[in-house]
Amino acid sequence: MTDKYAVIGNPIGHTKSPMIHGSFAEATGQDIDYQAIEGSLDRFSDDVHAFRKAGGRGMNVTAPFKLQAYALATERLERAELAGATNALKFEGDRIMADNFDGVGLTNDIQRNLGFLLKGSRMLVIGAGGAVRGALLPFLAQQPKLVVVANRTETKAIDLARQFAGHGDMQGCGYDDLAGERFDIVINGTSASLKGELPPLPAETLQGARLAYELAYGKGLTPFLRLAQNAGVPKLADGVGMLVEQAAEAFLWWRGVRPDTRAVIDRMTIPLV
Ligand code: ATR
Repeated sequence: MTDKYAVIGNPIGHTKSPMIHGSFAEATGQDIDYQAIEGSLDRFSDDVHAFRKAGGRGMNVTAPFKLQAYALATERLERAELAGATNALKFEGDRIMADNFDGVGLTNDIQRNLGFLLKGSRMLVIGAGGAVRGALLPFLAQQPKLVVVANRTETKAIDLARQFAGHGDMQGCGYDDLAGERFDIVINGTSASLKGELPPLPAETLQGARLAYELAYGKGLTPFLRLAQNAGVPKLADGVGMLVEQAAEAFLWWRGVRPDTRAVIDRMTIPLV
């Protein structure tokens, strides 16, 4: 029998998840049906339970439901626990299990696809919202030399650094505090790019970096990536690889089979111009 999966969000029209999971299923010979569901803003849990009752086996969860999905779960894996948010649910009987693959997807993309090892590197992460929170534990697990989280609202960065302190060397600060600092890898996890804006980084922050990574996908050369390009950063990337890699992790969790990601990433990549 065909097993049912879905992505739930609102709005959901833009989602690439059915295409990605459809490609994975075809390539691995898995018999699944994967749909996009527009969740109702005030009845998210009803929508999830209705899908489960109709035979749903798992769901990806996207904005604005990642916190509600976390609250709905009966079991949470550590990554979801520390992120305080979930992007994937698995249903087994009465159990609703929650995980968060955004951070591991990003880490896999940086290391396996782009070829930059996090171990021993100096990392700067810009922003302290949900996207960054989900990435920190998988980053720290790779033993970077240092992870600095810088945010417009400095207190949020400092709180995050305090919360993750037991997992590695982390610091939180405001943008002004970055003056004179140098990093190997700089990741923009703010939503500024979605509005065509640029976090006010000191001019020299990107100089000497080897990789600049924009979590947003499909926005071309964003103000952040343009700044990196002008600073001479040799490798620029957007979040397409992260999107496909987190989907592959969810697919593995649900189906016990790891799909190959390369072909799907290549097909979805939009040139950074
Ligand atoms: P998400 O879940 O996508 O991370 P979020 O939790 O709303 O979204 O977080 C958005 C992040 O982008 C925050 O770090 C926010 O900074 P503040 O905490 O100071 O609000 C950051 N951000 C959004 N617009 C920005 C801008 N124009 N310049 C700098 N930072 C911005």
